[in-house]
Amino acid sequence: MSMQNVASPAISLNPPKRNLLAHIPGDEGWPVIGRTLAILADPKGEVERMAAKYGLVYRSRILGETSITMLGPEANELVLFDQSKLFSSTYGWETILGRLFPRGLMLLDFEEHRLHRRALSVAFKSGPMKSYLSELDTGILERVTRWRQTPGPMLFYPAMKQLTLDLAATSFLGAGIGPEVDEITRAFVDMVAASVTPIRQPWPGTQMARGVKGRQRIVAYFSEQIPIRRARGGEDLFSQLCRATHEDGALLSTQDIVDHMSFLMMAAHDTLTSSLTSFVGALAAYPEWQVKLRDEVSSLGVAAGAPTTFDNLEAMPLTEMAFKEALRMKPPVPSMPRRAVRDFTFKGYTIPTGTLVGVHPLFTHHMAEIWPEPEKFDPLRFTDEAQRNRHRFAWVPFGGGAHMCLGLHFAYMQAKCFARHFLQNLSVSLQPGYTPDWQMWPIPKPRDGLRVTLKPVA
Ligand code: HEM
Repeated sequence: MSMQNVASPAISLNPPKRNLLAHIPGDEGWPVIGRTLAILADPKGEVERMAAKYGLVYRSRILGETSITMLGPEANELVLFDQSKLFSSTYGWETILGRLFPRGLMLLDFEEHRLHRRALSVAFKSGPMKSYLSELDTGILERVTRWRQTPGPMLFYPAMKQLTLDLAATSFLGAGIGPEVDEITRAFVDMVAASVTPIRQPWPGTQMARGVKGRQRIVAYFSEQIPIRRARGGEDLFSQLCRATHEDGALLSTQDIVDHMSFLMMAAHDTLTSSLTSFVGALAAYPEWQVKLRDEVSSLGVAAGAPTTFDNLEAMPLTEMAFKEALRMKPPVPSMPRRAVRDFTFKGYTIPTGTLVGVHPLFTHHMAEIWPEPEKFDPLRFTDEAQRNRHRFAWVPFGGGAHMCLGLHFAYMQAKCFARHFLQNLSVSLQPGYTPDWQMWPIPKPRDGLRVTLKPVA
């Protein structure tokens, strides 16, 4: 069976008539703009206020459409685990990502999605992961060494963004990419920035126009490289996808590889930048945890400059717990949209086909009844025992169910490899009295770039 014949189920999903949602408590705000401005100004506060007033299921209106917000672990389980195949990811994400990242894995549904996910998963098996680790390790060590030579105050977020981008160039595209690397990187940055820009049309001079142009460049680059990579081989993620096959043994089509590569780079980029920045920000704000993690790194017994192995990463459980706690506090994907493909019922409300629904890790991750003192950074929330006693959908930074993040192990690997070199070389602190202000949506980032001070450790 060739992939081209496996179309999405024929769902054409129009939003339901507004009066069909009127029985759900809520507030749609102003005509036209609805509650868009409130959610942009303070997404966490807006959802918390609406939940306090209307409960864990409420009606709202953002970006021109009435939608239903569903909060808490049970809502996450229903929508993300989606045992009954009630929710379309394609028609949930399309307004945000459809133009620039069409047919990325997250924008496919059901059987077609399953088949593509299976084909892509070869690139995330342990063999390829070892080779990405070696590229990440070299790039991180080199950058951290440079930071060590120029200690003092720095803006951490832009530095992390640049590092993540440079690491993606080697681990995703291959070390030998050559002089085109800057141009490809620029095109890619424009696409990512455009995916979250408020002006959705590619009018001249807008970010969306730059994004569309960036996509054309990226499509041209990948298309011309596919035959070269197939002939030459290579261990980077792109070369893996060039060799990946469907169940019938057929190679992925050029268009499929282009779409998957563009989406993968986008999915990895801002999420890793955001989470590694919040992780380092937390270590700066909680020096006692920084000391504990540095002790863990020292106990690996690996000389500075020696390569990081899978076994080293396995032996860093505290670091993993601290990274998980950073993901709890500032989930890089703070909310996830879906569209109902059939009528369904939740907490006594019937919700019709076509309804846009949203679940909110950011809200669930701060529910005080699940996470006491939710604003406190406490990695011990992630001991095995503590995790056993919690609802399995109480912590969902990587989503769950069929669309659960395919790059989750890649993310842990980059985070731990970074922590190993960073803590072995540097200590990080914040100016006394400085509390960084974070913009939490669409992807959390510190408004001022996160001002930290780095010092070499002995
Ligand atoms: C800390 C870093 C990351 C976070 C928090 C994160 C979060 C997520 C979330 C929440 C989803 C599911 C969205 C939904 O169900 O609507 C997702 C999907 C995905 N992520 Fe990640 N991600 C991260 C890093 C990465 C990396 C490094 C890669 C690739 C190397 C990646 C590749 C993907 C892909 C391909 C999907 C789509 C999976 C599917 O639809 O089957 N992510 N990610």
